[in-house]
Amino acid sequence: MNRLPNPSFNYNEKGQQYSGQRKTDPRIAAQIHRLLGDAKTVLNVGAGSGSYEPEDRYVVAVEPSSVMRAQRIALGRAPAVQGSADVLPFDDGAFDASMAIATVHHWPDVARGLAEMRRVTKGPVVVMSFDPDAYDVYWTAEYFPELLAVEGRRTPAMNLICESLGGQTQVIPVIVPVDCVDGFQEAYFGRPEAFLEPKVRQSQSAWSFLPEGLEEVLVDRLRKALESGEWDKKYGHYRSMPEMAGSIRLIVSNPD
Ligand SMILES: C[S@@+](CC[C@H](N)C(=O)[O-])C[C@H]1O[C@@H](n2cnc3c(N)ncnc32)[C@H](O)[C@@H]1O
Repeated sequence: MNRLPNPSFNYNEKGQQYSGQRKTDPRIAAQIHRLLGDAKTVLNVGAGSGSYEPEDRYVVAVEPSSVMRAQRIALGRAPAVQGSADVLPFDDGAFDASMAIATVHHWPDVARGLAEMRRVTKGPVVVMSFDPDAYDVYWTAEYFPELLAVEGRRTPAMNLICESLGGQTQVIPVIVPVDCVDGFQEAYFGRPEAFLEPKVRQSQSAWSFLPEGLEEVLVDRLRKALESGEWDKKYGHYRSMPEMAGSIRLIVSNPD
């Protein structure tokens, strides 16, 4: 039985379809795995269904939602420890490296969770998150400004992540390929029709924080712009862009 408080986006209620839409993109995975260096043991915090876990190292996953933990099992991955980032049940320096992918914006205390990761990790801590100052760099700024405002409010600033991790930190932009197989919002920069599909939006937690009824308004706004040809006139060039540098960042901390 899961006795931990539910995350603010309730993955136990709304995360059932997650692993169908949110998968490891091999190009982003390669970047993450390089940053893990030669670590043999890796901790994955906020592991969800296990995306981006390296298969050639020992991985221990921590995940608070029982629905997300069950999806790992269904995918043939090892079980995860039930836990929360802010109290990691491991000794100091227990892991060679650790990772936290697309999860810190869900944590109740980001600074504490990242300090915990630093505490239990001897080598690199690798975090993938979104730079709230860069959410408006592509066309969703015109069609979904209310959604980006929600994202901006809940996403920790890059300097908070760096300061909480300490050590030598580096912030590296992630280039998103147009055929990205992980279904976060920016993955669809060149495939706007995807946002019309409920299952795509259900695996992007920001939509659930909009006031009642607003999701339909935003989707309708985009649908009309696609049907009228307005979107393609203004933004059709995104369809043939091979990749885009948006708001996604890898933040890596190595000990001093
Ligand atoms: C968007 S999913 C990312 C999952 C996975 N890392 C991935 O890349 O697919 C966010 C995950 O953070 C988890 N999470 C929420 N609150 C957490 C907390 N306090 N500590 C650790 N993980 C948490 C959620 O349960 C969910 O599985």
